Amino acid sequence: MTIQLTSKLPHVGTTIFSTMTKLSNDLGAINLSQGFPNFDPPDALRALVTYHLNNGKNQYAPMAGVPKLRAQIAAKVADLYGRNISVDDEITVTNGATEGLFVAINTVINLGDEVIIFDPAFDSYQPVIELNGGRTIHIPLDAPNFAIDWQRVRDSISPKTRLILLNFPHNPTGTILTPADLETLVEIVRDTNIFLLSDEVYEHIIFDGIAHQSLLCHAELAERTFVVSSFGKTYHATGWKIGYCIAPSHLTAEFRKIHQFLVYSIFSPAQHALADFLEQSPETHKNLAQFYQQKRDRFCNLLTDSRFKFTPTQSTFFQLLDYSTLTDLTDIEYARQLIQDIGVASIPISAFYKEKPPQHYLRFCFAKDDATLAEAASRLCGI
Ligand SMILES: Cc1ncc(COP(=O)(O)O)c(C=O)c1O
Repeated sequence: MTIQLTSKLPHVGTTIFSTMTKLSNDLGAINLSQGFPNFDPPDALRALVTYHLNNGKNQYAPMAGVPKLRAQIAAKVADLYGRNISVDDEITVTNGATEGLFVAINTVINLGDEVIIFDPAFDSYQPVIELNGGRTIHIPLDAPNFAIDWQRVRDSISPKTRLILLNFPHNPTGTILTPADLETLVEIVRDTNIFLLSDEVYEHIIFDGIAHQSLLCHAELAERTFVVSSFGKTYHATGWKIGYCIAPSHLTAEFRKIHQFLVYSIFSPAQHALADFLEQSPETHKNLAQFYQQKRDRFCNLLTDSRFKFTPTQSTFFQLLDYSTLTDLTDIEYARQLIQDIGVASIPISAFYKEKPPQHYLRFCFAKDDATLAEAASRLCGI
């Protein structure tokens, strides 16, 4: 007898990332679809992990994270965003940003609560909201500028709004926040019971000399915000799945109640290694923008003579290309065709919109070595 299971996530199927990566692997294409580098974390960081593996750091780490790592995160936040946070009470090391997002949403969302998110949205947000009985309110970032429509945010707020989930620098559009955006956000949430969850995994990848506006920069926002980040994006180590969540102490206390029963603690040798590396090499995260800006410029320059239209992205390691002059195919159809015909895999962004997705945009990840970018660009220019 087959026992019937009631799915908690009936609408979730295979993600577009899995579909495109599988097709890409099957056909041996250049995979610019999923967001991961094809180069290794810094040598010194890898050596530190090996060192700690061989020197006794192999048992459970403290539930909140290795104290030295939390201290280094606090020092970085003070340095970059001018906010002093409590090492003991306001930082939790998580199993990637993904766990931080999962736990933060679990911490604040109850049955019937509404959560505002901006489309195209990272694919984990809505399922976690649904698992908690919440309702997702989608606000699109409309092409071609993909800017936030703050009036639409105001109009979307109801007595049930409990959380606004932001992801800036934004994957996949590269949209960033300005100080004026933070001021508008403060005006909107002031005197409400709305929490904020800020997914800042691309905090160090922002171009052309512009400073990232972390929600931690703003005292009034920081009081109601969970900020999530990831070492995966910063140190080319997406496979380690180590991130962190910063929130005021009363929110962190509730966050940790869930974190401790979900994973308890995070891979210990890497936490010790990251703590040492942050102390020894702060220039690595400070130089990351420059590192990726060179890759963005290289990729965009190589595509100048292509038939795609684009504006160089302001942040992240993703470049959107507009193919509207090439074909009327949907972005999903065209992404498949590019894999099959020229062996280059990308991500169609319509998959991340609830309604009225902009057509004709594909996302390409340029976190790749120069030879890979050159070969991919040459194939794209041949169209
Ligand atoms: C916007 C965004 N948030 C969260 C994550 C997940 O980060 P992690 O791999 O640290 O869980 C990603 C990874 O692609 C991302 O792009």
